[in-house]
Amino acid sequence: MNKITIAIDGFSSTGKSTVAKSLAKHLGYVYVDSGAMYRAVTLYAMQNGLIDELSFKKDKLAAKLPQIEISFKFNDALGFAEVYLNGVNVEHEIRTLEVSGFVSTIAAVYEVRKRLVAQQQQMGKDKGVVMDGRDIGTVVFTDAELKLFMTATAEKRAVRRYEELVERGDDVTYEDVLKNVQDRDYIDSTRKDSPLVKADDAIEIDNSSLTLVEQFEKILDLANKKIKTYSS
Ligand code: DC
Repeated sequence: MNKITIAIDGFSSTGKSTVAKSLAKHLGYVYVDSGAMYRAVTLYAMQNGLIDELSFKKDKLAAKLPQIEISFKFNDALGFAEVYLNGVNVEHEIRTLEVSGFVSTIAAVYEVRKRLVAQQQQMGKDKGVVMDGRDIGTVVFTDAELKLFMTATAEKRAVRRYEELVERGDDVTYEDVLKNVQDRDYIDSTRKDSPLVKADDAIEIDNSSLTLVEQFEKILDLANKKIKTYSS
């Protein structure tokens, strides 16, 4: 069977990474969480005083990019690759609401996108990859054989994200999470460089009322059909 490229885009907290991880595991493909890369750059900016509530030193961040090394290492126990920032595992730290509050600003920077997109394209050059994000089908892998665009209502997504954060032990309110989801939707969809839009050839999946199992089966079926087409 030939390997294909699977691009999964969509709004924040639509469960892209959950389905992408299961799909990659099932197909024996590599899973890449592109959002984790933008989050890692955001964490670097926060740790180095380049962004806070009052200021953003965009040019300084752009100049520092060559010193920001982002990598993934597969964790056997977890069954997926965790993200490392300059050799330090930051998988947990990048998921806070604080990082979520700054990440869309960082992800709108042209130089940041250029560098991360090049790295993502390198990771997927041999196919057999499932990558999720905002611009995977429209910019990173425009020739991906399967493109999905995931949506759900902002309220549904905020409930899911809120429950995840509470389970981690984070002290957050539902209202703050909903506001973050809505703010990120707005910034991600209206930014000048690579805004979040559905690729013309992407299949839209609204999972507001799908269970995880139903969603996985639907997407696995689409993937298997594509793999068959490209292998015959
Ligand atoms: O998927 P996520 O919520 O972890 O992504 C975090 C942010 O990174 C998201 O608000 C927008 C940005 N992002 C992006 O601009 N392009 C991508 N390919 C992935 C994420």
